[in-house]
Amino acid sequence: MCGIFAYFGPNDKAAEIVLKGLKKLEYRGYDSWGIAAKQENGDIVVEKHVGKISEVINLNEKLEKPSHVAFGHSRWATHGGVTEYNAHPHTTENGEVVVVHNGIFENYLELKGELISQGHQFRSETDTEVFAHLIEDEMEEGFEAAFIRATKKVEGRYAVLAMSKDENKIIAARRGSPLIVGKGQDGAYFIASDVPAFLEYTKDVMYLDDNQMVILDKDGARFFNLPDGKQIEKRIISIDWEEEMADKCGYPHFMIKEIMEQKETISRAINLDSELLSEVAEKIRGAFGTYIVGCGTAGKVAMVGEYLFAEIAKKHVNVKFGSEFGSAKSFLKDRSLVIAISQSGETADTLEAIEIAKSKGATIVSIVNVETSTMARMSDIVLPLKAGPEKAVASTKATTSQIAILTLLAYAVADDLNTGRKTLIEAEGKINDMLNPRYEQHIEAASDRIKDCSDIMVIGRGSNYPIALEAAIKLQEVSYIHAEGFAGGELKHGPIALISEGTPCIVISSNDEYQKEILSNAMEVKSRGALIIGVGPEKSEIYDYWIKVPDALNASPILNIIPIQILAYKLAVARQNNPDMPRNLAKSVTVK
Ligand code: F6R
Repeated sequence: MCGIFAYFGPNDKAAEIVLKGLKKLEYRGYDSWGIAAKQENGDIVVEKHVGKISEVINLNEKLEKPSHVAFGHSRWATHGGVTEYNAHPHTTENGEVVVVHNGIFENYLELKGELISQGHQFRSETDTEVFAHLIEDEMEEGFEAAFIRATKKVEGRYAVLAMSKDENKIIAARRGSPLIVGKGQDGAYFIASDVPAFLEYTKDVMYLDDNQMVILDKDGARFFNLPDGKQIEKRIISIDWEEEMADKCGYPHFMIKEIMEQKETISRAINLDSELLSEVAEKIRGAFGTYIVGCGTAGKVAMVGEYLFAEIAKKHVNVKFGSEFGSAKSFLKDRSLVIAISQSGETADTLEAIEIAKSKGATIVSIVNVETSTMARMSDIVLPLKAGPEKAVASTKATTSQIAILTLLAYAVADDLNTGRKTLIEAEGKINDMLNPRYEQHIEAASDRIKDCSDIMVIGRGSNYPIALEAAIKLQEVSYIHAEGFAGGELKHGPIALISEGTPCIVISSNDEYQKEILSNAMEVKSRGALIIGVGPEKSEIYDYWIKVPDALNASPILNIIPIQILAYKLAVARQNNPDMPRNLAKSVTVK
């Protein structure tokens, strides 16, 4: 949610480096953008616009002048509409202090009121602008002291960077939103919201933790605790992601590239260390309540987990969306176990759930893609997805890896990890067979049939019920068609009233105990005029269109979501939407 990129170093094209870095972060927010560069005479030049940074070819000529210090921002609006004034960076009236920010300053209205009464003039409707004025107000003891004082006044979760006309440095602080420092060659430093943005320059990174500050200046990168300002040492971590993993590699969009990558990503998830899995299985067996937590797609994966644990391990687990975790508070004990599911490891609602669980002494296990994320660092045990960077906003490869790891865990709890691995290895072979151009074309034909519809229903039973919910999310996100997932048995209790002549209904099935019943549900909607698209291993005469998915036993939920991912992608392209950057969404949701 909002991308931030900064450069400090010997290269005098700082603004261009920032432009390039921001383009790689655009998936985090893409309604407007801006860059500030400090020029050799000390002036800070700012350029900002409404629109996508990926469409920018040249910067304003003022920003082309030599500069060694610059930062920029690609925005996902929270406070204030999408306008040039509200785009970041934000400056004080005289341009002395410039800031960019990701997150929310929750007490900004109160602070703004006070600052206005002291004579400050505001140009934007954002919460961010207060930070620039707060720094300006405290400048008598210098920029660093003023920055620290400003952080003491703001409340909420944020990542914030500032520059001052008086000093050749960038200061950044973090509380709840990600910021990573990259150490490049010859004294060059980068700050970004996500690692892929500077992978072409360096793989050596230092993570800023909550309530920490970093100063980039001629002395390098110096780190401090907040609020006391005490200097701390940071370990350099070497990232094992390759730069090309974060590129499109010839695909038209990241979404389809990441869908296709599932041929390899599943096998990386399956190879998860047995000892680690057994250790977590032991904790689940001994836990006083296990809670699986996630948001959005990761929340639906958590729901799939509930079915997998019931079916495979005969074990009850509780499932909560991150934003609804508060209701579990009274039941958490120090013997409780929380399994957090996340691609980014930075989702604010899931992080808050972890904070609640930790405050009760619970053990935290995370199933996460970004191994160096806040979530991973807050966890007692990390089960890494190893899926490589996921850049399309709609989660695909991370989703199937998460389900694969939950499947392995359920088998580990049942003390039958070998069967789990065997089931998943066979499933992986079937995914390889599915992901071919003919399969894509077959799904594209289904997309052509329904691309102009206004509603899509998706139904499933058992573990295919959360898959139906996830299918609906994928379809909504990128096709912008109203789509809803239901448990097949629930249709007759209300939603069936929504069916009219030609409404597409996607029926997800597996070779399981629910197969007959889901087909009866399909028949119920077909008799009311629905167009039935069957997704599953067996053809049925009820289907108007069948998308075959090989039978994969307990790994079926993994396979069943893949054709829907492709269908959502094809619908997005057919409707001329950008599947990588759906409207109103951002990849990493770092606000509550
Ligand atoms: C949907 C999607 C979102 C995320 C959710 C949680 O395709 O990607 O619903 O699943 O925002 O994000 P992570 O997994 O990063 O915690």
